[in-house]
Amino acid sequence: MNKFLIAPSIIASDFTHLADEISACESAGADWLHVDVMDGHFVPAITVGPLFLAACKRATKLPTDVHLMISNPDQYLEAFAKAGANNITVHVETCPDLQQTIKKIKSLGCTAGITLNPATPASALDSALPLVDLVLVMSVNPGFSGQTFMPEMISKVEEIRNKLNALRSNAHLEVDGGMSAETLPLMKKAGANVFVAGSAVFGHPQGAGEGIKALRNVVARRER
Ligand code: DX5
Ligand code: ZN
Repeated sequence: MNKFLIAPSIIASDFTHLADEISACESAGADWLHVDVMDGHFVPAITVGPLFLAACKRATKLPTDVHLMISNPDQYLEAFAKAGANNITVHVETCPDLQQTIKKIKSLGCTAGITLNPATPASALDSALPLVDLVLVMSVNPGFSGQTFMPEMISKVEEIRNKLNALRSNAHLEVDGGMSAETLPLMKKAGANVFVAGSAVFGHPQGAGEGIKALRNVVARRER
């Protein structure tokens, strides 16, 4: 089983204090920085692009985990790789030739992730599963931070964990959407090892650092 990792979702932070928000995450032991790219087409909202990713890179040494919620991702892979993406995750709904997209991501020197909307069945990943470094299960409909966790996605994580185990794959199994001290342990038990958190981190009353510590503590307490 891969290490337990926390990936704060930077779009939920206060952009007027971007470098401080990132360094609070870093000092509190965040593992990756999750960057949510939305295009106003695949999802209704528009968030950030390569320029913003490059700014994050200048503020941190943390690996960047770029989640592309955009139509036609193939057209933009190079720009995100150049801007400093360490991992690029694409939605299966947006890739006509998923295997080709994964190859392209790897050829750019990034690790490759695939993800799927809550309504898309886990079987949509099957052909690509042996090729990927990461699988992301969305536990909300992609679009914005602060939505309610969908408990139906627990069994999807279990299903994908079983598939990865059957393949003897070391790919990370990441979850994104509505993670909190209550929901994170459920997804961990189901077999996830990477946890994206937006509001639980940046909406924490004592700031992002305490938000990360609270998520780490809930896991540490259960393991004692
Ligand atoms: C949703 C994004 C998430 C989001 C998470 O479309 O992919 O990464 O920012 O935010 P919370 O943790 O608040 O659900
Ligand atoms: Zn995300």
